[in-house]
Amino acid sequence: MNPDDHVCLCFRVSQRKLVNFMEREKPRVASQLSECLGAGTGCQWCVPFLKKLHAQWERGDVPQLTVAPAEYAARRSQYRSTGVRPDPDNPESEPQSPQ
Ligand code: FES
Repeated sequence: MNPDDHVCLCFRVSQRKLVNFMEREKPRVASQLSECLGAGTGCQWCVPFLKKLHAQWERGDVPQLTVAPAEYAARRSQYRSTGVRPDPDNPESEPQSPQ
């Protein structure tokens, strides 16, 4: 994902907006990312990914998702139509992008 790709597709919240929010507001828990334009409060597909970004930020790493945006959107569509995460045992897993 590039910084301007949307992590929360429901509310069009980009990775850049989320990173800037964390730098500015220093959220103590991942759920506080919902204060960034409502991220995670729609279909909830992005919640595990918001948690992952927050965990990376807490560790001092550069928060970044490696999933390709098209793959991410496709997995969300599957989740929304079935109600099941493609990888329920590891919901925050990021599928590998084709190289
Ligand atoms: S994609 Fe974030 S709440 Fe739906």
